[in-house]
Amino acid sequence: PIEDRVRDLLGRMTLEEKVYQLNQVAFGKHMTANNIGGEMAKVSPLIGSIIYVNQDPNLRNDLQKKAMEKSRLGIPIIFANDIIHGFKTIYPISLAQACSWNPELVEQACAMAAKESKVSGIDWTFSPMVDVARDPRWGRVAEGYGEDPYTNAVFSKASVKGYQGNDLADENSIAACLKHYVGYGASEGGQDYIYTEISKQTLWDTYLPSFEAGVNAGAATVMSGFNDISGVPASANYYTLTEILKEKWEMDGFVVSDWNSVKQLINQGVAGSDKEATLKAINAGVDMDMADRLYLDHISDLVKENKVSINRVDDAVSRVLKLKFQLGLFDKPYVPIIRENNRYLLPEYISTAEKLAEETMVLLKNSDNILPLDNKVSSLAVLGPMAKNQEDLLGSWSAYGDAKDVESIYKAIESEFVQSKIFYAQGCDFDGNDTSGYTEAINVARKAEVVVVCLGEKKSWSGENASRSTISLPKIQEDLLLKLSELGKPIVLLLSNGRPLDLSRLAPLSDGIIEMWQPGVIGGKPVAGILSGRINPSGKLAMTFPFSTGQIPIYYNMRKKARPTSGMYQDITKEPLYGFTHGLSYSNFKYGDLKSSKTNLRKDENLIIEIPVTNASNVDGADVVHWFVSDPVCSISRPNKELKFFEKKSIKAGKTEVFEFHLNPIRDLSFVDSSGNKILESGEYHISVDNKKIVINLLEE
Ligand code: IFM
Repeated sequence: PIEDRVRDLLGRMTLEEKVYQLNQVAFGKHMTANNIGGEMAKVSPLIGSIIYVNQDPNLRNDLQKKAMEKSRLGIPIIFANDIIHGFKTIYPISLAQACSWNPELVEQACAMAAKESKVSGIDWTFSPMVDVARDPRWGRVAEGYGEDPYTNAVFSKASVKGYQGNDLADENSIAACLKHYVGYGASEGGQDYIYTEISKQTLWDTYLPSFEAGVNAGAATVMSGFNDISGVPASANYYTLTEILKEKWEMDGFVVSDWNSVKQLINQGVAGSDKEATLKAINAGVDMDMADRLYLDHISDLVKENKVSINRVDDAVSRVLKLKFQLGLFDKPYVPIIRENNRYLLPEYISTAEKLAEETMVLLKNSDNILPLDNKVSSLAVLGPMAKNQEDLLGSWSAYGDAKDVESIYKAIESEFVQSKIFYAQGCDFDGNDTSGYTEAINVARKAEVVVVCLGEKKSWSGENASRSTISLPKIQEDLLLKLSELGKPIVLLLSNGRPLDLSRLAPLSDGIIEMWQPGVIGGKPVAGILSGRINPSGKLAMTFPFSTGQIPIYYNMRKKARPTSGMYQDITKEPLYGFTHGLSYSNFKYGDLKSSKTNLRKDENLIIEIPVTNASNVDGADVVHWFVSDPVCSISRPNKELKFFEKKSIKAGKTEVFEFHLNPIRDLSFVDSSGNKILESGEYHISVDNKKIVINLLEE
């Protein structure tokens, strides 16, 4: 068994060898096997892990050879990288993935990303990011699964299963890393690298569930965040790292710090020196130090001074070695060398990326059913900075994705609408003040029957260290749409962006709006298919689109307030522009009444609630039924409603499908107290789907 191999190896290691295992060094991102020379010499054969060896498997094998042959015990290196939404085949960003409400498809995409990464020499990805995030100014909302704890938990599990498969030793599996533990999504004001203010109650009910779900799915590693949690940095937090993660949840993988998050304890004011930062991080439960050399420089001394126990070091090292054994690195340290065209962008990867992109796109608006367009439409003007852009459709953290592999929206529309004349003008850039292209865009639009305007965000506008003070598009883009709208032609707005946007000015000027997110390598074809009606949109928002930046924070599961219908900002509407789960379809889904065999329930009884959904149209489609619970009277104030289950099903035109919710009171009706204990109170609960509701009475014991 692996435990015996770990124990045996650990017993033969010196303190120095142990400490090396707890270090991850960063490699120059542009190194190849040919120009590696000096860099390679700098890497000790004892090193535990390397981040960012690029996609060259030869280089990885050379480094591995050094570890295997030039170190006394021949311990393999574990190679890590950020494979966030694909390696070379780039899938839609995670926020978009959540809008598919199709965890099976997301699992499949992650499994394919794992396969593509593994043959390139990557053993371990820093994904999924399962930070619940409710401030769209924060650039990293692109990388997570939106505003809801349950949704994040479902996709946490799906992606871990996708990356890791059933067996980490499988040649197609890589280790997952749940990040950023924990609460990073609560970054104050949407800024990055800042503190978070999170009560224990909120920590348990909002921020921890997605991590717990990932741990239960077997995630091999967890990354400790940059943020502090009400004053205690996440990378020096004994409560979250040791008491919750390792003790309560019995997570037996290891914790890696975020990039420099150990050294940054000094900036956060809880350590006066590198050595003290090391002491705090290792004793709190961070097992591996990413990027800086602090563990390497200080742990041995701290052990000798009895400030860090050898047991803590052995525990951390055992966790790292265990994963290396689980991945089979000791037995098969090298990756086979496969020709590039046999490992990248394989047809099954592309078709999964396409299917996922189709399901992630959200039809936000469709006035007078302007969409789908008749594909015999005589002419279309395809305008805007996103129309011919390839690079930015990839989204942030697009690993080794290459713009040349991306089909532009313009090209895809040309192929979709073969019978129509297609005109193009860029109109303007993403930002800046140069309006000289407006005239051409207006002239082109004049010639067309329908105007398709492609606007959005550059990929660098979201991701790490990419927060924005406003979530509206730059004026140059908004004004382009304004000018075009003065022509009085039908306007369809296609948006590609990494966060919810303020569309309060753009929405009234557009007849139809499709949120295509940052779809990765294949977004043009799906969006063109939605325009033509070849694809019936089924995406629904996993994160609220506020009416304006000033309305933030706004999310569906806010807590009950003292005066529910007043107190909002007086100068804007009370409602968000497009709420959580909003998304239109070309089908017309009609919801019947909720039905349950009983309404009085004991706490230990389960219950099945049903709802029939009819596709009252002549178009086949897919609908997502979201099941919400609310608790009108409770000993603490709870959210207005909480998502407990969702399911997506295809429904043929004219047919009815019955959706079921298997309610389990302790899982679905309870709340957590500030120590994470589930509390289940008797009384009334409301279960709702859309605007249908049923009341359940939970009996006293
Ligand atoms: O994985 C990332 C993390 O999300 C942010 N800081 C850098 C890490 C490694 O690239």
